[in-house]
Amino acid sequence: MTDREIDVLVDLLGLEEKAALVVGASMWATHAVERIGLEPVVMSDGPVGVRDPQGRGTSAMLPAPSALAATWDVDLAGRTGRLFAAEARRHGVDVVLAPQVNLQRTPVGGRHFECYSEDPHLTAEVAVALVTAAQERGVGMCVKHYVANDSETDRTRYLARVDERTLREVYLAPFERLVAAGAWSVMGAYSGVDDGTVAAPALEHRPLLTGVLKEEWGFDGLVVSDWVATQSVAAAVRGGLDVQMPGPDGPWGDGLLDAVRSGEVAVADLDDKVRRLLRLAHRVGRLPLPASRQGSLPGDVRAVPAEDAVPLLRELVARSVVVLKDDDGLVPLADGPDGAPLRVALLGAHAVEPFFQGGGSSFVVPDRLTYPADALRAALPTGSVVDVVAGSRVLRNPPALDLARCTDPVTGAPGVRLEWLAADGAVRRAETAAAWEGWCADVGPDDATLRLAARVRTDEPGTHELGVGTVGVHRVTVDGRVASAGDVVVDEDVILASGHNHPIAATLAVEGGGSALLEADLQVVHPVGYDRFVRGALVHRLPGPTAEEELDAAAAAARDADVAVVVVGTTHEVESEGYDRADLALPGNQDALVRRVLAANPRTVVVVNAGAPVLLPWYDDAPAVLWGWLPGQEAGTGLADVLTGVTEPSGRLPWTLPARADDVPVPHAIPVRGVVDYAERLDVGYRAWERRLAAGTGSGAGPEPAAPFGHGLGWTTWEYEVADLAAPGLAPGDADVAVHVTVRNTGSRPGREVVQVYVTPPAGTATTDPARPVRWLGGFAVVDAAPGERATADVRVPRRALQTWDAAAGGWTTPPGTYRLTASRSVRDPRRDVDLVVAPGTQS
Ligand code: BGC
Repeated sequence: MTDREIDVLVDLLGLEEKAALVVGASMWATHAVERIGLEPVVMSDGPVGVRDPQGRGTSAMLPAPSALAATWDVDLAGRTGRLFAAEARRHGVDVVLAPQVNLQRTPVGGRHFECYSEDPHLTAEVAVALVTAAQERGVGMCVKHYVANDSETDRTRYLARVDERTLREVYLAPFERLVAAGAWSVMGAYSGVDDGTVAAPALEHRPLLTGVLKEEWGFDGLVVSDWVATQSVAAAVRGGLDVQMPGPDGPWGDGLLDAVRSGEVAVADLDDKVRRLLRLAHRVGRLPLPASRQGSLPGDVRAVPAEDAVPLLRELVARSVVVLKDDDGLVPLADGPDGAPLRVALLGAHAVEPFFQGGGSSFVVPDRLTYPADALRAALPTGSVVDVVAGSRVLRNPPALDLARCTDPVTGAPGVRLEWLAADGAVRRAETAAAWEGWCADVGPDDATLRLAARVRTDEPGTHELGVGTVGVHRVTVDGRVASAGDVVVDEDVILASGHNHPIAATLAVEGGGSALLEADLQVVHPVGYDRFVRGALVHRLPGPTAEEELDAAAAAARDADVAVVVVGTTHEVESEGYDRADLALPGNQDALVRRVLAANPRTVVVVNAGAPVLLPWYDDAPAVLWGWLPGQEAGTGLADVLTGVTEPSGRLPWTLPARADDVPVPHAIPVRGVVDYAERLDVGYRAWERRLAAGTGSGAGPEPAAPFGHGLGWTTWEYEVADLAAPGLAPGDADVAVHVTVRNTGSRPGREVVQVYVTPPAGTATTDPARPVRWLGGFAVVDAAPGERATADVRVPRRALQTWDAAAGGWTTPPGTYRLTASRSVRDPRRDVDLVVAPGTQS
């Protein structure tokens, strides 16, 4: 649709219609205007799949985005983009709220798993491939969260203080690439930015949102607010926000209409937003061409072929696994001794119940779930044995209370008693519920409190633990004793903090042999823009083996097995949107489990089921450690493919794995007086590690990580034979530098190599431009080769990778000199250098 055709439609709309169009009609859709043929544009999350906006259907559940980035494979990213398009159409979705291209600035970031990498170039390459492929199929991707929204602590309020150069070279870089690649939509962040000139919420930051994104980069798509992030009318309108989501509640709506009528907001500004919405609606097939041109339509852009998600997801899971170490060649698993069937001890709470996906808005209800034990049993030869023992305790909350144990203390009927109270304490209605999922959204507008009561059968002798996890004003008692009480009223903040999804329960111990009375008064939460709800996770731990006895059982299984596979990881209590992690330790007693298993059987493979870095204090003692991410629905099948040698685990770390908490360059993102100061500037992630390593000499050298950025072994070995340049220098007008790297597979299995090229700036840069990183990723390419064969990787290092932002001049410059380009297996494993000359005069 041409701009003129869009203008004609805008002119047909009245002021009220225009003001309504730039506010969501509901949680997930914009308004329709039948008169001009405009249908609602439907949006849905998010980065690990496309959630059904009706909240009913299931979805393909992908591995977390950092797993995709760990493949460093833009073809796989493109195929993932096609899957997003198919999934979007399956669920009637036009715009997917993904990908997230914020950076993994600190390993404690709650949404670390939703981001791709700590490196802007790797982030951009993966995101561009994914967004392009989805949009080619007529589905919009909404790139988020613009900008510098890299942590969750106090996330709706903090200001990220980032100097202009750092913004340009690091945090804006993926967005810039995506806009150049034609992204149709961008989501503005909850947090704010202080770039040294303006300190404002992201949605009101006119220099960034209007100046850079729209005017300088020429973004012609739609800027959508993050959900309930809009705090103002005129300031956000002028800042550059186009559509407030969700709606119809919120500051826009009537507020916007009034502001236009009073002249505070110009009609031209409103028209520009409407124009952008119509353009997006047309792109995704929700606004037809004018009748005169309809014959020229290539067909319904919404007719996207369905995709069979399972093979791709399975491949992604296996390909993303990073072999951190495998000293004794334990992976793939060999046969048992003398060809006998293999006995595997599959251990750890995560072996029983993997952590499939992180918490927060990216959550999807999966089409199916696959489990390591089932998949491994199916994949191993007949006669093999897989013994499964959880062994570890990973959750702070006890398991959910079984309602079959409960009776209504008033009526004696099976179930829990629910009484809904008005604000004055009057009981409005009462019922006995036979099912309780931990919360309830079926709340009346005048209900203020839910009183919940159950007589719980606790007849097993021994100590039982009972309690309730909730949010807001509450009082929980067990047999009249107070387990927990709170008087802090919560509202939409609690939604944004995600705590309501995983409240930690306060519990009390009761002696078994009879029953106990569990009672709770729980606040009805009313988050504006979202439905009312009550949260009450009823929990119960039965008497049973002690934690030590459970560890003993795991160690015994390991001792009896040919090989032990221990799966450890994070949980929804620690890796989620809405909060950052307090530390980098594995939760519960998992370190103890690994040590016990290693002592029982040295033939042990540890698989880490986590999205973000965790400390592995036993790392040096474990012969084999694989990073298995948050793998999504094919957790079981993908892992079995790796363990049995069907697919090579060819992942490489897209971030740095620290060995000790004290070594982490940016250990937290706790705002100080409301400000998160990006004081490390350009040295995001591995660049900070590299600077410290380069600065030190001998014993003064900076700390080595447990595993560096880009590391991953695969299952073969590689010789880097030659690296050369297509041309020795960068000529004016060259968009990029082509580096050809020939590698030879020197192992005995076919393999995939991720050839990485790092840039070292000209000698003397440390003096002329001390802020410039000592080394950074310039480009990469993936090649396959059979044993003994060579393959040549064609790595493109974009000109931008050599450039710096000159804040004084307000433009990019390419500092001249001789750059070293190093073909490497990781940032710490250089193999071949080649010099690139940037002559003076080729700056622009
Ligand atoms: C998240 C966004 C998400 C939106 C809609 C927000 O809380 O920050 O990433 O797309 O909710 O669910």
